[in-house]
Amino acid sequence: MTPAEAVAGDFRVPGDKSVSHRSLLLGGIAEGLTTVDGFLESEDCLATLRALRALGVTIERPQATALRIQGVGANGLLGVDFALDMGNAGTAMRLFMGLLAGQSFDSTLVGDSSLMRRPMERAAAPLRLMGARIETSEGQPPVVIRGTPELQAIDFHMPVVSAQVKSAVLLAALRAKGVTRVTEPAPTRDHTERMLAAFGIELLREGSTVSLSGGQRLHGTHIDVPADFSSAAFFIVAGCIARAGSLRLCGVGMNPTRTGLIDILRAMGADIEVTGLATRGPEPIADLLIRPSALHGIEVPRDLVPLAIDEFPVFFIAAACAKGRSTLRGAEELRLKESDRLAIMSQGLTALGVKHHLLPDGMQLAGYDDSAGPVFQGGRIDSHGDHRIAMSFAVASLRAAAEIEIIDTTNVATSFPNFTDLARGCGLRLRELRAQAAE
Ligand code: S3P
Repeated sequence: MTPAEAVAGDFRVPGDKSVSHRSLLLGGIAEGLTTVDGFLESEDCLATLRALRALGVTIERPQATALRIQGVGANGLLGVDFALDMGNAGTAMRLFMGLLAGQSFDSTLVGDSSLMRRPMERAAAPLRLMGARIETSEGQPPVVIRGTPELQAIDFHMPVVSAQVKSAVLLAALRAKGVTRVTEPAPTRDHTERMLAAFGIELLREGSTVSLSGGQRLHGTHIDVPADFSSAAFFIVAGCIARAGSLRLCGVGMNPTRTGLIDILRAMGADIEVTGLATRGPEPIADLLIRPSALHGIEVPRDLVPLAIDEFPVFFIAAACAKGRSTLRGAEELRLKESDRLAIMSQGLTALGVKHHLLPDGMQLAGYDDSAGPVFQGGRIDSHGDHRIAMSFAVASLRAAAEIEIIDTTNVATSFPNFTDLARGCGLRLRELRAQAAE
């Protein structure tokens, strides 16, 4: 990757990963046909699709990004005698735990080497309170689920801020006796709640608590998947740190539980215009116009951390280009993502000569003072198979003195298969050296 300072483009990034997973899971257990447009054809979502097909759901793909899901209804899933492979997808594994806990058959869930190291007790523990029988291996996958059709509702106050845990409990709650209540310590993405409502489920949202009564049936529907805000984030930061040009991103998902990065960047002085805000199905969308911006450092407000949780790798790139110090705290969850995103970003920033301190729960970056020269030196980055880290350092090339080589990039396809093409199309100088394995 060689330095390029200007960007230009007008395009749509692919569909939202969280919404695509959920459209499959809910469509699979609904009654009747669910059609999906804008589906994200990425490795993570295809893992969910393959697992549902294995469990007996017929899913046609008239186009790469369109689905026709013949839902099997609440009791129609069929058990399999092999482990279901969730690939790199934490969302798939935790949501399937909730979906499968109350079935009448047993299931085993596995994943790739990154997923096999991630914590699963956060979802297993509340499901056990509902009566589920779930085993993990010292907290990690494989996850063995002994199907228990008699789940009981719970009143659960989540100890971790996690949309996946909330969603796992809500999916199990559909099959539990009584009214399940989930209270979250801070708002997390609410795609599950919005989509359940679109499938005809009655759920009540009161402050930080969501409740639903078990035994309700889902009815097939149509889902329009918005462009993924988390994929757009790489281009939002690219547009801000570029020296010239502008980027227009169309149809981007603007669910307020996802757009924390816009608030953070605007507080840093970013020139981001939001136009055409509209609601398509359960999710709001808009077009974004991003122009080169004189960014200044920020102390990230704690309440924005869960609302930008997947965007911090690329936020660090923006903060490195900002004038003055930036600090992120309260983000220890980043250590439990596809990689330890604090440690691995810190290693990469060090390799490119960026002054910063790694904190137990965040990072402090010194920022950039001389608006004339490049922010990043050239160097070699190991993404440790983490898609968002690989893409973040690709964006850094806009302000680099020399070539940045990024290794272990195969997993970019887990969330953003055409990232390289779109990035090249808007001016980033990306070169693929060779096919690189994730492991
Ligand atoms: C996701 C929730 C978030 C996020 C992940 C996708 C989801 O994780 O980091 O990439 O689709 O529910 P948490 O469960 O930690 O909130």
